[in-house]
Amino acid sequence: MSPNDLMDKVVSLAKRRGLIFQSSEIYGGLASCWDYGAYGVLLKNAVKAAWWRSVVQERDDMVGQDAAILMRPEAWVASGHVATFSDPLVDCRTCKARFRADKLEDVQCPEKPSKCPGQHNACDLTEARSFNLMFKTFMGPVEESAATVYLRPETAQGIFVNAKNHMNTTRRRPPFGVAQIGKAFRNEITPGNFTFRTREFEQMEIEYFCPPDQSDAHWDAWVEARYQWYLNLGLKADRLRRRAQGSDELAHYAKATVDIEYLFPFGWSELEGIAHRGDYDLRQHAEHSGQDMSFFDDATREHWVPHVVEPSAGADRATLAFLVDAYDEETDEKGETRVVLRFHPRLAPIKVAILPLSKKTELAEPASRIAAAMRTRWTVETDTTGSIGKRYRRQDEIGTPFCVTIDFESLTDHAVTVRERDSMQQVRVGIDQLESWLAERLEPPTRQLGASWIFPAAVGGQA
Ligand code: GAP
Repeated sequence: MSPNDLMDKVVSLAKRRGLIFQSSEIYGGLASCWDYGAYGVLLKNAVKAAWWRSVVQERDDMVGQDAAILMRPEAWVASGHVATFSDPLVDCRTCKARFRADKLEDVQCPEKPSKCPGQHNACDLTEARSFNLMFKTFMGPVEESAATVYLRPETAQGIFVNAKNHMNTTRRRPPFGVAQIGKAFRNEITPGNFTFRTREFEQMEIEYFCPPDQSDAHWDAWVEARYQWYLNLGLKADRLRRRAQGSDELAHYAKATVDIEYLFPFGWSELEGIAHRGDYDLRQHAEHSGQDMSFFDDATREHWVPHVVEPSAGADRATLAFLVDAYDEETDEKGETRVVLRFHPRLAPIKVAILPLSKKTELAEPASRIAAAMRTRWTVETDTTGSIGKRYRRQDEIGTPFCVTIDFESLTDHAVTVRERDSMQQVRVGIDQLESWLAERLEPPTRQLGASWIFPAAVGGQA
């Protein structure tokens, strides 16, 4: 399958199976805006939950927050976004299309080949103009400049302005970090590649505050931790890489940045950037707000401004990468093709499908009782329509790891058939064992909690 075919297939599956729809489709669609459907929202929520679990719940040096999208406009002056968050914009005088002057080689002329040469560096282009990417709006009923506010272009600034609040309310001291998931908005000149580059998107950001002399070590550790996160959730290692940004690519606030990139069908592209922001942001906010953003170190009796390491990921980009990576097609000996999304169980939108072999009440009732029990723990879908083969295929297409079939034998042997998505193997499992059987496979324990792990020295065990 060619990369273009793969992307087309993923986009069409996403629409057909309720993962992702075009925004305002009945009105002709709104360019570069997408709505997550029934399975899409479960997938994206699972990606965000896995991120939160890894960077907040499983660490003792992290807390979370959820800041407002709208902030005082001064915050965006201090951050440098009002002055510098812009892309160079050029127009083609022939076809009137607009492009980023620094990305001309990436774009195709819509008029090609009839009017334009098709390669925009050879087109009749205007001079580059600087175009600020922030969306502006007005707060309150008066449309005047005093009431101008911006839709945040990154969630990060909501963390910087609260840095002191976190230190005061959680007794945290550097090194510690704050995590946040939320919407961000950028008036991108050239959005595209499905949900990869959009004007409204969700970020998963961390600002990690550290002593200046430890910041390089924390930066390295975060690059490694974030790279491993994508691998642990199943992205193929040969499609994932770390790449240090060149000095000409760095954002205005960054001393250095490593990008984690995924080999999408349209080429290697950024999933996440891990930036070393130095003390840029806290110093800027101190200067513009007049507030002291330094930290008093009891040990050294000195004031210093923490340095910041920022792992900044896109929830939509990560979701797209997991979707593309999971897509697979298999053709059997009869020539029939099975489309399967091989999601990591933690990410699968539906974990368990309950499939009573017949709609008859003898099977419908136990099936609905089993579904109700499983639903207290996992996302479950019951499907009663069509042949069992068709129902398996439908679940494969949305990546459900386990299908549970209740048949007439279940009434006497009190067991069900569990079919696994990837191997298609089937096993008979007693109904009273079903929850623990599934739990073992859907939520494998990361550690065996036992005395030898908790007190390794005392009991002579291994950690
Ligand atoms: N606070 C730092 C920051 O915002 P960024 O590299 O501009 O850095 C971080 O954005 C992440 O947000 C990117 O790696 C990407 O995953 C996501 N992102 C940025 N712009 C996006 C867009 N237009 N559409 C979808 N995701 C985007």
